Amino acid sequence: MNHFRYRGRNLYADGVPLATIAREVGTPTYVYSAATLRRHFKAMDRAFANRKRLICYSVKANSNLAVLSLFAELGSGFDIVSGGELYRVLEAGGDPRKVVFSGVGKTPEEIALALRHRILCFNVESAGELEAIAAEASRRKLRAPISLRVNPDVDPRTHPYIATGLKESKFGIPMDEARKLYKASLKRKELELVGLDCHIGSQLTVLGPLREALRKLTSLFRELRTAGIPLRTLDVGGGLGIAYQGEAPPEPRAYAGAVLRELSGLDDVTLILEPGRVLVGNAGVLLTRVLYRKQNQAKRFLVVDAGMNDLVRPALYGAHHELLPVVRQKRATETVDVVGPVCESTDVLAKKRKLPALEPGELAILHSAGAYGMCMASNYNSRPRPAEVMVDGRRFQIVRARETYADLIRGERVSRRGSRR
Ligand code: LLP
Repeated sequence: MNHFRYRGRNLYADGVPLATIAREVGTPTYVYSAATLRRHFKAMDRAFANRKRLICYSVKANSNLAVLSLFAELGSGFDIVSGGELYRVLEAGGDPRKVVFSGVGKTPEEIALALRHRILCFNVESAGELEAIAAEASRRKLRAPISLRVNPDVDPRTHPYIATGLKESKFGIPMDEARKLYKASLKRKELELVGLDCHIGSQLTVLGPLREALRKLTSLFRELRTAGIPLRTLDVGGGLGIAYQGEAPPEPRAYAGAVLRELSGLDDVTLILEPGRVLVGNAGVLLTRVLYRKQNQAKRFLVVDAGMNDLVRPALYGAHHELLPVVRQKRATETVDVVGPVCESTDVLAKKRKLPALEPGELAILHSAGAYGMCMASNYNSRPRPAEVMVDGRRFQIVRARETYADLIRGERVSRRGSRR
């Protein structure tokens, strides 16, 4: 469910015509719907209503401050993977005591920053990292709160680039090694063993693999408790998928049902969830304008002003984003490749789409671009990154200004002969 709908011929974001945003803010622009974000968060939270739980929104999916602050106001915690993400959470008014820190390559500086802000826990991904955290904690005479992220070795049946829970993956610690690490860490006063963690992959559209992983996870959890390790949180990661092109991923209630079934008997445990895409994916679109029509020997193209630097998912994963005209036209349809201006053959945003013929100057959106859209944008080809807009009811606000040419060269220096600087 989302709030991007046609009213008559015009496509709206909540109460605002997208054409108005294009006129006032320009294109390409990411547009987010506050109503959709709230609705998705509440649906997920409500699905776990009778349970001690903490939703830690996965910041990497969309790290705009306005998105983070909306979730913070709803009581969300945050799953971060860098010092930069912690900085954003703090700037957005998020509570560091509701932050879990994941990722395989935390630096000593990032660990120190997280310790200083008393985050809820580190999701630790290797024995080496555990030592680095222990060293920082003892230097500061603190106890670092620890969960080990285990690798349950299950196939999440998703795109191989976003599968993380297989034994070939760089993520997580093998279950056997984790068992030993917990036992060896129990007596260390610089470490506080608070929980157990796992995340098997993203864009999951079936629940079987998650169930399989949770069965392994809860069995280890129980075993560790029996061995006298007083764990109190169980983090099941994120990963719930969304519909990009007719997929039918489980609804939050079905997802919650599956998770809770595996957790039965662990009622005193705080369940931590790290959803990203499911909260923001369908709450955002990328608004773009057609620049040219082009026909070569074999194909017809629409060249638009957004490119793979703005939305990399099609080029990187072969991802599908629905393309919709902002003003619905009764025109003959044609099959086109929608491409951007970037000088790469993979700069194709939409392949072989059957669309009513769009003319230069007309607007379109790429749907479901709220997750892993702007946050993965780059300046490739020296293209300023898009603006971001949040729509709330009948009002909208620019929540990130479009980059300028000056932004492109910020921090760069030309060494001039004779210059002393
Ligand atoms: N927790 C951990 C430890 C993760 O690695 C991720 C995502 C999440 C939570 C959130 O997963 P979600 O609920 O969003 O599926 N750029 C890719 C997706 C990469 C996901 C990375 N990890 C894409 O555009 O599809």
